[in-house]
Amino acid sequence: CSIVEHTFKVGNLSVSPLCKKRVVVAVNDRFPGPTIRVREGDTLIVHVINDSPYNITIHWHGVFQRGTPWYDGPSYVTQCPIKPGASFTYKFALVDQEGTLWWHAHVSWLRATVYGALIIRPRIGQSGYPFPKPDKEIPLMLGEWWNANVVDLEGNFIRTGSANISDAFTINGRPGDLYPCSSGTYKLNVDPGKKYLLRIINAALNNQLFFKIANHNLLVVGVDASYTNPYKTDVVVVAPGQTVDALLVANQPPASYYMAARAYISAPNTTFDSTTATGILVYKTPNTTKASPIMPSLPAFNDTPTAHKYYTDITGLVSRPKYMVPLNVDVKMFITVGLGLSPCAQCARGSGVAGSMNNESFVIPNKTSMLEAQFYGTSGIFTKDFPDRPPLVFDYTNSSLPTVPFWFPNKSTRTRSVAYNSTVEMVFQNTAIVAVENHPIHLHGFDFYVLAQGFGNFNETLDRGKFNLVNPQMRNTIAVPVGGWAVVRFVANNPGVWLLHCHLDVHLPTGLATAFVVENGPTPSSKLPPPPADLPKC
Ligand code: C2O
Repeated sequence: CSIVEHTFKVGNLSVSPLCKKRVVVAVNDRFPGPTIRVREGDTLIVHVINDSPYNITIHWHGVFQRGTPWYDGPSYVTQCPIKPGASFTYKFALVDQEGTLWWHAHVSWLRATVYGALIIRPRIGQSGYPFPKPDKEIPLMLGEWWNANVVDLEGNFIRTGSANISDAFTINGRPGDLYPCSSGTYKLNVDPGKKYLLRIINAALNNQLFFKIANHNLLVVGVDASYTNPYKTDVVVVAPGQTVDALLVANQPPASYYMAARAYISAPNTTFDSTTATGILVYKTPNTTKASPIMPSLPAFNDTPTAHKYYTDITGLVSRPKYMVPLNVDVKMFITVGLGLSPCAQCARGSGVAGSMNNESFVIPNKTSMLEAQFYGTSGIFTKDFPDRPPLVFDYTNSSLPTVPFWFPNKSTRTRSVAYNSTVEMVFQNTAIVAVENHPIHLHGFDFYVLAQGFGNFNETLDRGKFNLVNPQMRNTIAVPVGGWAVVRFVANNPGVWLLHCHLDVHLPTGLATAFVVENGPTPSSKLPPPPADLPKC
């Protein structure tokens, strides 16, 4: 195993994806930011120097951070932000996970431009990939672009409850040919007959995406840095936070083919960015025709059946101990996820959106980080009384209830404390209060087993029988079906404070979140380590 070291200089960069020059925050003058490549078992050291005008933190999305909870990165959860002019060094090992993860800013909406791929290949000398060795590996970062300043947009959203829709989607930072004026189109040159491992990441702020390549199938071999049984499909769905590893074989007649990404919109009657980002797959042969690329036909924006089929067909590749589902559950939770309203004095319209879990709308502290409060025993920052079920049982998926009990959730910083090594099961129940839509729920620090998902209200008697306890897919982000539910399990084997939240940035700051506090275990190595000396002060 080796040490991989990077320096991230965060600063202003001028870019013009839609032909207009814009100043954005970026890492090392690149948009998207640098790709980090490591092997399983390596230690990654990243020196972050903040030369930007904003507070910054970097989150290593999907990394277990075993024994290194101080380096997880969400601002005011595991650390205070790195202030302009300050720096902080992240240092952690990538153990027991392989595949595609990514890194992104975890403060305000800065991850719109502060993100990059984190690729973990198998260790040298081990069996390698559990699928045919690709000739080449290609990161494909799907993003969402705004012409406006995203920090201003977030402030405006919190004040008014109305969110601007984005101006473009991007593939590796470029919108592509279909926009009236685009800085360019991402091109992937392929040799006929060769195999390519596409490492697809949805870094968009607020949109799930369908992704397709004209006339080509994809063989999904991993999601969220866990291996899957090979799954052949012509379309993938990626929610913000999720990743897909898929093999592409260049087995079609030499020509040019578009790859395309477009929104999957589960919420009815909503305004959204209906544009399509494209890249081009070009066969490198002398007889490749010069004709314009062939366009794939993407699913309709609201094609929930296609999204659901993709999400539920995939199974995990049970090849290593970590893929074995724990059968004994210590903590059972039923968590409603959805949107309510916030009676809000400073909101222009009198009320803004208040996302909530079990009727608690999570307020992220701003005096010190939650992890420091946990380590030092500081009271008054958060409480450990997040409820294991909603205070009321009602028809969660009925959007026409005249008076909905959860209209105005409580604002609080209530967390769920769990004993070291406990197995936690969560039923996420999507609600239709105010608005119904698919919410991608991300757990920091752990992968979970996705046991089942479906539509309507979760039925304890009937739906428990549908659990896959044999080879469920493992993920760090579950897209809870629109008007439906999903059940996951994880083993809380890492002391720390771990955020659980909707990965739509339009919902996290409104409170669609909570956190797990995993308490210390009995041995020295199962206790919260002290904070690193350079941890930023609030
Ligand atoms: Cu990818 Cu809490 O984030």
